[in-house]
Amino acid sequence: MRVFLTGGAGFIGSWIAEKLVNEGYKVTIYDNFSSGSFENVKHLDGEVDIIEGDILDYQTLKISIKNHDVVIHHAAQLEITTAISDPVEDAKVNVMGSLNILKAMKELSISKGIFASSACVYGNIDKYLVQEDERLQPNWEYGVSKLAVEHYCDIFCIYENMNIASLRYSIVYGEREWYGRVLTIFLKRALEGKELVVFGDGTAVRDFIHVEDVANLNISLVKKNWKGHLVLNVSSSVATSIKDLAYIVKDVVWEEDKKQVSIISEKVQEGQFSKYIEGRLRLPRELRIMSLDNSRASKLLEWKPFISLKEGIRREYQWLKRNSHRWTKLSY
Ligand SMILES: NC(=O)c1ccc[n+]([C@@H]2O[C@H](COP(=O)([O-])OP(=O)(O)OC[C@H]3O[C@@H](n4cnc5c(N)ncnc54)[C@H](O)[C@@H]3O)[C@@H](O)[C@H]2O)c1
Repeated sequence: MRVFLTGGAGFIGSWIAEKLVNEGYKVTIYDNFSSGSFENVKHLDGEVDIIEGDILDYQTLKISIKNHDVVIHHAAQLEITTAISDPVEDAKVNVMGSLNILKAMKELSISKGIFASSACVYGNIDKYLVQEDERLQPNWEYGVSKLAVEHYCDIFCIYENMNIASLRYSIVYGEREWYGRVLTIFLKRALEGKELVVFGDGTAVRDFIHVEDVANLNISLVKKNWKGHLVLNVSSSVATSIKDLAYIVKDVVWEEDKKQVSIISEKVQEGQFSKYIEGRLRLPRELRIMSLDNSRASKLLEWKPFISLKEGIRREYQWLKRNSHRWTKLSY
């Protein structure tokens, strides 16, 4: 079976590519290397086909996608600040790019697809363990573009006989992650011997899932047949406050390096820059709670996350020690 993987040179995509290769699938990575890198896939050299191409370039995309059985679509614009300042650019890549994929699949009679959606489709919901049938009211433009694609997937599944799974990822973290979100900033500062800076009281909660668990779920779906549009939360179902996250990082760094890390709190308004962390913006319209129930995916795929947050953070910290050169510029 041949798998076409957009965004395969990125953080999550490179893990999926690796797992697919290990399972004996033929893999084509299609990526424009805007945020992805060859470094992410250099260990797969000779084992995957890599096409440097843009999902907005329909001709190249269609020629490249030909003769594949499954499409896994992970290429996207994912900077929240870009989506806010330039929603047209966000929609261009995330909506038009995804429509190009759906259109090419239809024209080439490829019926099976997986689409990387996001927890951002829910927006601000003040409760824990949100299920897939919760109301959808994104707080960021990025969530709107992801939701629009879910709606297109509905249409293509109902009227074009496609079978697509939209995966609403919570916060995916782990080795090869890009530098920008709170955990990566904690890890880099800890490595540099600086204090961890928690914005406000640190009671906002997030659901962190390790990238290997996410890649395993994608592989389970490639092996499975389903009908129509399947929407799944992909999460740990564990809610962790940012303050607790800081303490887990502190513990890991102590266990690994016997180094004490201190934790401080900083009052920063949304949309303002931190005084302690150069270039670090507190995102506007931040969620108080992000917590997704993964029971639908668990039941359907007999899948469950097996990497605890502490173990995942340990792995990412060890990786960072070997790859500190990679985290220089902040993404949002
Ligand atoms: N990382 C997370 O926590 C998270 C959470 C929710 C959803 N997602 C979704 O998962 C997917 C992968 O995210 P990631 O964290 O691995 O990000 P990433 O930036 O590491 O990967 C995205 C990849 O897409 C490629 N790309 C971007 N624009 C492209 C274009 N126009 N044409 C071809 N390739 C293009 C980039 O070069 C990169 O390799 C995205 O769709 C993202 O929206 C990620």
